[in-house]
Amino acid sequence: MLQQIPTLIKERMMQLEKADAKDRQDGTPRLQRLRQIPPESGKLISLLAASAPEGEIVEIGTSAGYSTLWIILACRYLEKIVKTFEILPVKIKLAEETFSQAKVQSYVELIYGDARVHLKDVNNISFCFLDAEKEYYDDCYDLIIPKLVKGGFFIADNVISHEEELRPFIERAITDPRVDTLILPIGKGLLLSRKI
Ligand SMILES: C[S@@+](CC[C@H](N)C(=O)[O-])C[C@H]1O[C@@H](n2cnc3c(N)ncnc32)[C@H](O)[C@@H]1O
Repeated sequence: MLQQIPTLIKERMMQLEKADAKDRQDGTPRLQRLRQIPPESGKLISLLAASAPEGEIVEIGTSAGYSTLWIILACRYLEKIVKTFEILPVKIKLAEETFSQAKVQSYVELIYGDARVHLKDVNNISFCFLDAEKEYYDDCYDLIIPKLVKGGFFIADNVISHEEELRPFIERAITDPRVDTLILPIGKGLLLSRKI
């Protein structure tokens, strides 16, 4: 799955890695930046998505679709699709370009709008990757955890880079009896919860 990433996916990943690195250096305003996960976080979410039990695969915060491509590697392997949610039209356009260029449209459903509204229609979730605005983390957690199947994974990014801001959210997940949770020092810090 990770040993032989198809050329078109690899090429788009490399383009997006370059664009993201440029964004971080040239003062691009925050909302226009791609704000992508690093490749090591991508590998982890790919492995976890591939190991998740039967159920829906979901991502909150698509941006240009870089993290989605990592999840799609698992979807190709599982013959499943990922539902990914993005609120900004400019990012939707970039993500469409990504999925078209990488020729992975059959493995992804890109949903335009606030994930907190659209998630109400999704059930039996076995994998969720959350990487959106930090003020929405609690709402997304409240929507996802009850819908997570037994053994399903919930992963949230930035719990080390934004530790102070996310402290109440992290404490909640760690003390929640519905899940087993730990913090992984990979990339910007990933919170991993598994439904009991
Ligand atoms: C950090 S970026 C995601 C980066 C992406 N996961 C990657 O690594 O390639 C966060 C994205 O979440 C989107 N977003 C923020 N709040 C959202 C919401 N409530 N519903 C859907 N998308 C949201 C933002 O517009 C932004 O594009």
